[in-house]
Amino acid sequence: MADTDYYVQDITQEWNQWDKSLQKLAGKVSLICSNCTFHWVQESDTAAQNMAKLLSNNNIIIMNILFFGDIYRSAGADTRAELKRRFRYPSEEQLIGQWVTAFRSAGLTRIDIKYRESHKILPVKMYNESNKLFVKWFKRYLTDSTGDEDMDQVIRELLYKERVRAVSEKSPNGEDQVKVNIQVWNFVVNK
Ligand SMILES: C[S@@+](CC[C@H](N)C(=O)[O-])C[C@H]1O[C@@H](n2cnc3c(N)ncnc32)[C@H](O)[C@@H]1O
Repeated sequence: MADTDYYVQDITQEWNQWDKSLQKLAGKVSLICSNCTFHWVQESDTAAQNMAKLLSNNNIIIMNILFFGDIYRSAGADTRAELKRRFRYPSEEQLIGQWVTAFRSAGLTRIDIKYRESHKILPVKMYNESNKLFVKWFKRYLTDSTGDEDMDQVIRELLYKERVRAVSEKSPNGEDQVKVNIQVWNFVVNK
């Protein structure tokens, strides 16, 4: 849109390294809105501080965080311990708690959280395609980078077993479909 300025900025970068044109917005932003992003951001303290810096008084951050479930659930006890040693996806308490703590530390203490569950039914092909990106992002939870190639398949299976079920209903094009469960935590943070 011609009357809109667009910027690209890593939210986890320290404030003093931000683009100068964005730094000028400190204390002037009335709405920060984020969809389907913060579950990928591990540096929640810096991100929350940056958002607190941007936001003007009496205004809000609206964001959501997706939780992918207890992805270790399907593994036996021994396998689970070994998996968690190599690959550390947080528990729901850790993931959501981390953001509550980050906002509080950034001085934002008026936090409303709502949880909801939903699902989508997708052609298998589409699920596999979008899952490539998820597997890539999930690799940030690997505890070391050695020999992580074989982890692609492991992560793919963990995610599938926890979130996905085959359904009998075919797509309009006659393709096989799956049902993908979605767990979303919605945050509204007031300044
Ligand atoms: C699943 S997409 C969601 C995109 C869009 N919000 C939407 O609803 O369609 C996740 C987005 O998070 C962005 N992202 C991930 N880490 C980020 C970071 N540290 N700082 C800024 N953006 C980030 C990615 O670039 C990507 O565009």
